[in-house]
Amino acid sequence: MSNETMLTRRGLLMKLAILFNGLVGIALAVPIVQFLLSSITRGRANAYLAWVPLGAVSEFPEGETRLATFRNPYVTPTDGKTADTACWVRHIEGEQFQVFAINCMHLGCPVRWFPQSGLFMCPCHGGVYYRDGSRASGPPERGLVEYPWKVEKGQIIIQAGELPTPGAPTAALDRRTPPCA
Ligand code: FES
Repeated sequence: MSNETMLTRRGLLMKLAILFNGLVGIALAVPIVQFLLSSITRGRANAYLAWVPLGAVSEFPEGETRLATFRNPYVTPTDGKTADTACWVRHIEGEQFQVFAINCMHLGCPVRWFPQSGLFMCPCHGGVYYRDGSRASGPPERGLVEYPWKVEKGQIIIQAGELPTPGAPTAALDRRTPPCA
């Protein structure tokens, strides 16, 4: 085989390798770029501010705390059932409510409401909260996080775009009513 033929074959292989690498690079870059642009293309920034209905006010009797479920609007197409979540709605009186995130402020287990004792209790490590969401005892260092809420056309709706966390800027974080209210 002549040197010229070998050089031509080597050149062809080199070009094929560059082309292949280019295609692999594009295949890897597409999902990364999609992810980076996702907040713009899917309107997730707006989803963060979305208000979600929990049901008619009449479904939450005065003086009681009831579980409500909703679908988090701050989702990606792959979230599936994990975007379905819940919260505790406390109807104090009239149009006065508190809506608590279901997650314990220790490590996030779902807390349960016990009307007999008037306490929220966490099954994981024994965290306990008063009816107004403030911390009663156990490992959690703070009270339950509250969703901003409002009543519109007889429906209670919450701003539920993102699950509240201790660092989340929520106006309701420090709003507290007496435990016996
Ligand atoms: Fe609730 Fe630990 S997760 S007490």
